[in-house]
Amino acid sequence: MSTNSNNSKSSNNLENILIIGNGGRENALAWAIQKNQLIKKIYILPGNAGSKKINKSERINLDLQNIEELIKKINYLNIDLVVIGPETPLADGLGDILRKNNFDVFGPGSDGAKLESSKSWAKEFMKAAKIPTANFWKVKSIEEAKEIIFKHKNPLVVKADGLASGKGVFIPESKEACIRATEEIFKGKFGNAGEIVVLEEKIEGPEVSVFALCDGKKYVLLPTAQDHKRLNENDKGPNTGGMGAYSPTPLITKTNLETIKKEIIEPTIDALLRQNIDYRGVLYFGLMITESGTKVIEYNCRFGDPECQTIMPLMDKDFVTILQKCALGKLIGNETIEIPNKLSGCVIATSKGYPSNYKIGFPINIGNIDTEDCQIFDSGTSLNSNNQTITNGGRVLSIVCQGIDFDNVFEKVYKNLKEISFEGIYYRKDIGHQVRIKTQKEGNN
Ligand code: AMP
Ligand code: GLY
Repeated sequence: MSTNSNNSKSSNNLENILIIGNGGRENALAWAIQKNQLIKKIYILPGNAGSKKINKSERINLDLQNIEELIKKINYLNIDLVVIGPETPLADGLGDILRKNNFDVFGPGSDGAKLESSKSWAKEFMKAAKIPTANFWKVKSIEEAKEIIFKHKNPLVVKADGLASGKGVFIPESKEACIRATEEIFKGKFGNAGEIVVLEEKIEGPEVSVFALCDGKKYVLLPTAQDHKRLNENDKGPNTGGMGAYSPTPLITKTNLETIKKEIIEPTIDALLRQNIDYRGVLYFGLMITESGTKVIEYNCRFGDPECQTIMPLMDKDFVTILQKCALGKLIGNETIEIPNKLSGCVIATSKGYPSNYKIGFPINIGNIDTEDCQIFDSGTSLNSNNQTITNGGRVLSIVCQGIDFDNVFEKVYKNLKEISFEGIYYRKDIGHQVRIKTQKEGNN
């Protein structure tokens, strides 16, 4: 069980925040958190070139493995709340260590993070709690896998059990390709993450993302979103971390959301409680709306990227107080986040070659961009010796805008994108195609 101390150092102060992570997600969290007038300072560890542009924000650098130094720093900076962004430190138990040292942390312990860090654990968890998900088989050898693959009429989805930066899932077209993918995983393509393979029945339907901020027992939902995982237009090409998103998604109606709460969200939190897992953080439900109902494709123990960059501009000043209540285990359950009468959309500008090999180090030029209801969150950037922002990752910038309808939103996003350049810049022109009417695929005009 995660150790959630009852004698945490906080006296419900909310002045200094530490966000751990270096992506667009963490910058977007900082951007939403600074809206609260109580907040004095937001430290981002390590952040990226864009972090310092966010009001009240400052980057700090420190080796996360050096726990002693980290604890000293958190004490020295009088941090009231630590928000852990990425899955790896969560899975490694950073939340547990900080809580043991009496800090207030938004982010589950390593026990809760298992929902993401072990796909077989998550599938068994869902099966036991009768949470709708695709049928699955956990295998430990290629012989076991072959037996199951050949028994089925259609090729199965193949997944490495552990964390593989979103690259450990294969959707083969043939049984032979299933076997090849399984062999590659067992041969060590993803290191320890591939000691177990999960084979899954392939299900079909649109995918949506739902986020619940949890305090261990209660939860508050964020606006829904839809990500675009494939690299190319018309949802073709390899899977990526996410090429763009929009929020909220009309694919989840009010009625549908009630069903999702009753069949998926609440049974998940109840089942965590039954296992003595005190989950204080965000539960990310990757869902597929199939003909036979909505099913869980995956859980994540963190905010989605780029969904987070898309949703954060819709948050009001109370967002950070809800994060704090989650960390303290003190949600009342009736908290609401006032959502403006606006919609939000995000397109990711990537480096040429992403999600495979790509080069970094190219200067980024940003021209005359519209800043009203628009944000640019740096995702993979750094500074060169001339203090110039350069590309430093596959996903480089998150271009986000809000508006009254999705045509308006994406018109602004793509207009801003035309003002941004770096060598090899690539982005999808059809993000939001599901909800755009007039301007479909006009991104490049
Ligand atoms: P995951 O990392 O488990 O979310 O899988 C990555 C992507 O693979 C998902 O977003 C889906 O598009 C696809 N996928 C995963 N599992 C299945 C499944 N059982 N059936 C169909 N597609 C799947
Ligand atoms: N947008 C997908 C993810 O964060 O896993």
